[in-house]
Amino acid sequence: MAGKRDLVSMLDVREDLVGLLELAGKIKNRTKAGEPYEPLRGKSLAMLFEKASTRTRVSFEVGMTQLGGHALFLSPNDLQIGRGETIADTARVLSRYVDGIMYRAFRRDNVRELAANATVPVINGLDDKEHPCQVVADLFTIHERRGRLKGLRLAYVGDGNNVCNSLLLGTAIVGMHMAVACPSGYEPDPELLAQARRLSKETGSSLDIMRDPAAAAKRADVLYTDVWVSMGQEKEKEEREKLFRPYQLNEKLVTLANEDAIVMHCLPAHRGLEITDDVIDGPRSVVFDQAENRLHAQKAILARFIAGV
Ligand code: CP
Ligand code: NVA
Repeated sequence: MAGKRDLVSMLDVREDLVGLLELAGKIKNRTKAGEPYEPLRGKSLAMLFEKASTRTRVSFEVGMTQLGGHALFLSPNDLQIGRGETIADTARVLSRYVDGIMYRAFRRDNVRELAANATVPVINGLDDKEHPCQVVADLFTIHERRGRLKGLRLAYVGDGNNVCNSLLLGTAIVGMHMAVACPSGYEPDPELLAQARRLSKETGSSLDIMRDPAAAAKRADVLYTDVWVSMGQEKEKEEREKLFRPYQLNEKLVTLANEDAIVMHCLPAHRGLEITDDVIDGPRSVVFDQAENRLHAQKAILARFIAGV
């Protein structure tokens, strides 16, 4: 299929991120008003999950149903991939049946390989480098709360992981300032960081990597954290939990941010570790709206990438 478009990185929505957020808003309003919107009638989405998922799996599946289509959950253990069929052949075969593929993978290379061999759009549902669908929903949530994005300050505290990398790119694209506080050796991916730095220069926003969570949180409009141990890093659990302890998003950190700052977490949260109960359940927290917005934002992504809306 000529001109099929994949969403592997936030860089893939660089040109139309604002338009995508607007579309998400329209779709959310229609859903809330009970108006059917079915641009994917008769279309199917294959969903390949190498890792666990609550939000991504359910929001993609429900999103496809609401858009008039259908989603199939596939795990590598059930597919022939688990018995040695190549990713390339799987991509070729699935492309004969479905209209799009969502892939949650351990390795970015595998997402690229699937995308290179599929003739239908491939959407990254999280890999080791990025989580673009999460960050489209996050920017949508921030805009919904604050009415704008450009010029706002986001402080990310914790591990410079996949979510952090996509946030760096996403904030740079829309002109938000971002400060990351992380321990030495746990910085964001150097290549993606360099790309984000280039983009932030273009949009006139700042991007700072630092050690001190208090310095990052100061005057922030958005406080964001994620797990200290991402899927696939379970062996490093003990070491990470010790090292990241000073990076907890707690009430002390919240008091340093702007008075109307919002608290975000992509979830699943490990309460008492990267975020305290009082903060995640507190008045600043928007985490469950953020989780709901995965559905609305992904419906916009599906409509755009699969139906060309
Ligand atoms: N935030 C997120 O992607 O959650 P799941 O791992 O539950 O899909
Ligand atoms: N950084 C986390 C995000 C989970 C949605 C992980 O990769 O496990």
